[in-house]
Formats: sequence, C-alpha cells, structure tokens
Amino acid sequence: MVNAPGAGPVSAGTVRSVLPQLGGIAYGGDYNPEQWPESTWAQDIRLMTEAGVNLVTVGVFSWTRLQPGPGELTAGWLDRVLDLLAGAGIKADLATATASPPAWLVAAHPEILPVTADGTRLSFGSRQHYCPSSPAYREAAADLAGRLAGRYADHPAVAMWHIGNEYGCHVPACYCETSARAFRRWLQAQYGELDKLNDAWGGAVWSQDYTSWEQVQPPRVTPTFGNPGQRLDFARFSSDELLACYTAEREVLTARSPGKPVTTNFMGFFRPVDQFRWAARMDAVSVDNYQDPADPEAHVFSAMVCDLTRSVGGGRPWLLMEQAPSAVNWRAVNLPKAPGQYRALSLQAVARGADAVLSFQWRAAATGAERFHSGMVPHAGTDSRVWREVVSLGAELRRLAPVAGHPVRAQAAVLFDWENWWALESDSHPSSSLRLTDLVGELYRPLLQGGVNADFAHPESDLSGYRLILVPALYLVTGAGAENVRRFVADGGTALITFFSGIVDPHDRVRLGGYPEPWRDLLGLRIEELAPLPDGAAVRLEGPAAPVADTAPAGAAPAGAAPAGAVGRLWQDVIELRGADPLLTFGEGYLDGQPAATRHDYGQGTAFYLGTLPDRTTLGRLVGQACRDAGVPLWTGLPPGVEAVRRGGYLFLISHLDRPVELDLGAKRLDLLTGVRVGPRVLLPQREILVLDTEGGPPPRSAG
Ligand code: GLA
Repeated sequence: MVNAPGAGPVSAGTVRSVLPQLGGIAYGGDYNPEQWPESTWAQDIRLMTEAGVNLVTVGVFSWTRLQPGPGELTAGWLDRVLDLLAGAGIKADLATATASPPAWLVAAHPEILPVTADGTRLSFGSRQHYCPSSPAYREAAADLAGRLAGRYADHPAVAMWHIGNEYGCHVPACYCETSARAFRRWLQAQYGELDKLNDAWGGAVWSQDYTSWEQVQPPRVTPTFGNPGQRLDFARFSSDELLACYTAEREVLTARSPGKPVTTNFMGFFRPVDQFRWAARMDAVSVDNYQDPADPEAHVFSAMVCDLTRSVGGGRPWLLMEQAPSAVNWRAVNLPKAPGQYRALSLQAVARGADAVLSFQWRAAATGAERFHSGMVPHAGTDSRVWREVVSLGAELRRLAPVAGHPVRAQAAVLFDWENWWALESDSHPSSSLRLTDLVGELYRPLLQGGVNADFAHPESDLSGYRLILVPALYLVTGAGAENVRRFVADGGTALITFFSGIVDPHDRVRLGGYPEPWRDLLGLRIEELAPLPDGAAVRLEGPAAPVADTAPAGAAPAGAAPAGAVGRLWQDVIELRGADPLLTFGEGYLDGQPAATRHDYGQGTAFYLGTLPDRTTLGRLVGQACRDAGVPLWTGLPPGVEAVRRGGYLFLISHLDRPVELDLGAKRLDLLTGVRVGPRVLLPQREILVLDTEGGPPPRSAG
C-alpha cells in the first residue's frame, strides 16, 4: 500500500462558480418546448422540479419559430416558456438559435449554403448549413442575437447566453468563393507580402509560387497531396472564421445584456476549433461529451475531455453542456448506457471541475432526425430506468453543492496544441497511422490509472506550476514553445517527449540538422532517421545495456527494464545517444540493440524520450518512472477502471467497473453522497461512487 496522490501545488480554495446564483451544481439539459404541444409544458416543469433540474438550455434550433421571416421576433411562445421556468425557479441558458438558418433566409441568400472541398454546395434540410464567412449569415445571426438580448436580457429566468451550437460540427470549413476572398484577406493580414507567403508555403516545390493574391484559393480537391502550408493556414483561417461568427454575436450580447455569462458548447477533442483561442473569449467554457457506451474505455476518453475543457478555460469551473442520458442515435449501432453509467460519467465531470451536468435533451424527440436519441424523459415516460436514474442523479448533485466552485489542481500536464494537430495529421507524412488523440490517450491512461490529476497545457503557456509534462508528438512547435519546454526542464521539471516531436516550424517546414532540432541538447540525443512500423507490427523491446538509477518502489521491476513481452509499435526513431541513458532498446530488426527510450538529466531537471510506442504495461512503467523523478505521487494499485480525482478538499472515487471492488481508504471518512462515514476498507459495488471529505484526515490508500 502506498500513499495516494495529494492535492496539487496550490492549496485548495474556492474559485468562482459558473452560476453562483444556483448555489451548487447545475442540472438539466437542452429543452426544446417548441417541438411539443404547449399542453406538455406544465408537465415538463413539474417533472423538472421532481428531478431537481435547475438549468435548461432553451431554443438552440428554434430560429424559424422565433423569426418566421426577416424582422420582428414572434417570441410569445418563448415568453411563456421562460415565465414558466422562472415561476419554478429554473434558470435558462438561452440560445441565440443561430445554428440552423431558416429556409426563408436560405431562399433569400442561397450563397449562405456552404461548399465542400470538391465544389459541392450543401443543401437546406438538416442543420449548420452556413458558410462561416457569409456576410448575409453573420448579419442575420447577429440581428437575431440582438433581438433576443433586447427582449430577454432582464428576464429573471435567463442566467446565461448560449451562442450557436457546436461550431464546426458538421461544416468545419467552407470552400466557396466568399470563403476564398476571406481566406485571401486573412493571409494578407498574416503575411503582408506575397513573397512571404510563397516562402512559408514552399512555393518553389511543384511550381506553386503565386504572382497575385487573386490566384490563392482554399485547398480544394487537387490531383494529389495539397500544399501543407496552405492546408495548415486554411485550418487556422477556418477556426478563426467560425470564431468571428461567435464573436459577432457575443459583441451584441455583451452590449445589450451586460454581465450575463456567454458560452458556446465545445466538442472535446474536436480538431477544427482551436479551443485555446476560443476560450479566451468565453465567460464560461462548456462541452458536449458523448462517449460510446460500447467502449470499455469510455471513461478514459471522457476524463480526457473533462480535463481538456477545464484546461482550455484556464482551470475555471466549466459546464458539461451535453451528454446522452442513455443512447445516442448517430453511431452505426447505438447502445444504451449501462445502469449507473450516466451517473458515473456525470460525477466524473463534477470531479474534474464541472459545475453543471446537462444532457441532450430534456424530452426524447418523437419526430425529426434525433427521434431515437435518448432524453431525460424517455419515450417510455417516467416509468422507466432512465427517468429513475435522472431523478436520483438530481438528488445526488444537490448533495454535492459544497463541491461547486472548487478548483482541480494538477501537478502534471499533457502539452496540446491545435496547430500541431492540424499539421501532424496533414498527409504525406512518414506514417498516416499516427493519430494525435490516440497517442495522447496512451500517455494519459497511466496518469488516470495512477490517480494523477492532469491538465492539458498549450506549449507556450506558463508551465511553472507543474512538475511533470508529457509531450505527445508535438510535431509542430514554435520557437517560443520549444524554449518553454527547455526552460521547464532546466528549471527542475521533468518532461517525457515522444517521437515525431519538434520536427517542423509553424509553417510546417522541417527543422534541419537531425531531429528534434530544438531539443537535441535537452534530450541528449540526435535522431537521424524516422522509421515508422507497418500497421500491426510489433518490435521486441529490451532493458538497458547499462543499469540506470532505480527509483521504483521496493519489489517493483527495475525502472527502465522492459517487462517480459515488451514491444514497441507504430514508430521507431534511429537514435544516436549524445549524453542520454538508454532505458529501453530495440530487441530485433535492423535497429536491434539501439535505443528505443532514453533519459537525460538537463539543468535541474530530467528529460525522457520515447522513440517508439511501447505496449501499455511498459509505457505505464515509464510514465510511472517520470512521475517518481518529478515527485508526482502515484496511486499504485488503484484497480483499473476505478478513478481517483481530487477536487478541492474532496476525493472522488468512481468505479467504472461492472463488478465490486475493494479499496482501503486508510481511515474512516465522510462520504458526501450518503452522509455516512465509511472505511477504512470499503467494498465498492459496481459503478459505485464515493465523494470523500479529505480535509484534516490522513491521505487514503489503495488496497493494492
Ligand atoms: C450534439 C448537438 C445536439 C444533439 C446531440 C445529439 O451534441 O449539439 O444538438 O444533436 O449532438 O447527440
């Protein structure tokens, strides 16, 4: 038994809750009363009260019902809905309803419809059918937002504003002529002179120099690989164009409804939108988190999304804006959530910093494309498992009110950057099997397994609060980002950097002289050649030729030694050691005997390097060694599938297992959910959760 990880470097305190007027955790979902006869609304309010709902997102897709033509709102129905909510003490996250432009607007301005890279203009008939650069769309959206703000800014039910919906979800970019002109303007602002653009994009290759700005196009369908610089800039531009849509509405709202928080819902690890840039313009960050119940690791990816959302918001409490109470309708096969899974993933969000647990949607739809998506009130009505879980979760969230507003402190961070993601997953690379979020998941999993709170940090952000950073495939790194990582280690931090990091500059131009050019000294090595492995191939890994300092707990295998059966997959770097110690070597193939993973003391700190993707056991050991070097406590022996997260003075223990599991809490502790003191040993039933008040007591221990 070893000690569980303590709280992060900053002492636990309370930060401002997302909606302090709620006095606790917000609970609810998307409420679309316009899809139902008015006779159901009173029942909605009664059921919301029964379930403890205190926040609903209203009107996300109601543009046509609010504005059946240009001009005045026909908002009588919304007045009545908001009045009903206010009467029951339920707050509204009022949507600006601009995610689905109405048929009349499309008929008047067909150019609003977006165009795909192959020149296809998409049709009206679903949602999000707008070109982000369309002046007609932006104008109409800002007009609607302004009318709504003018009418409802002071309505007692309206607690916050919700702009658009899931920006970029179905149409992340548009390739029409309007977008082409906007792209050129964006490029002119970035480069000023065409020669600079030609230089940045490597125009000399394949005769791609431009002699006039008018020749520059979005990266439409081409005979073969497109220009990497052009594609990267178009990804930046497209994120910025969507952001401009959001910002235009935000400006209207903040002018006419000052002081009310404004948000839009992110989608977790969603590539088109650079959330670090966006979150700076949001009063509260919110996310939609839809993991596949069929995936036994759903809780791992869900935890990553929670940590990412908290991180892009700078650690502020955030809102889980959407999740499914049970099944979704948009996968090929849509499993319901297992009993208890809605609760476990909801409390996971609270543990990781959410002050709101909302779902899509309140009432499961009877019509339209989402009629088989679960709702808090299912088709079956209230005599149903889902409804009983909904009511029970509402009661539990009320008991968790003391947790609201508390920060989640992390000593470890995973470096993450959207610009790197865009460049990394561009084509014509050594391997197209390297997917960033898969690799991030591989590195994140041992932290989750060890009960280590982790943030996601931008490479140029202040890293001084962390002891450990993990750097998965940071292929594109700016000079400032590279120097930030170097300084972090020089000042005493520990970094674990993987293959295909530090390869290109911000224009996707290779940094020459041996990889990774900015970090050769830091890592004490030089990579001469990149040797990715074919899909499915595994290369045996062995322990070091010479033993390295062993900081593993007594009884554990020596740090760095490869466990029996250790293999590397996906990648091999041809590493020349220049001061680093090998931790693992390749055990076969043409790199037989050469380093596969290394460790190097640099300044006051340590830099680990991974030249392959080790199997999960081996990777777990390496991450564990990096944690120990960094002084980041690991909860060894935490059963896989049980999550331990600290938020403020509370320790959440969440079992995602479908069987009971025994834990040793080290002492008797108060469980906030039941009000009962439990421990020291507890048998946690399947998918059970404890929220322990850890103030004052000794740290809990695992039974492992
Ligand atoms: C997204 C959207 C919602 C709904 C759900 C269904 O999150 O924001 O409007 O379509 O998906 O899962």
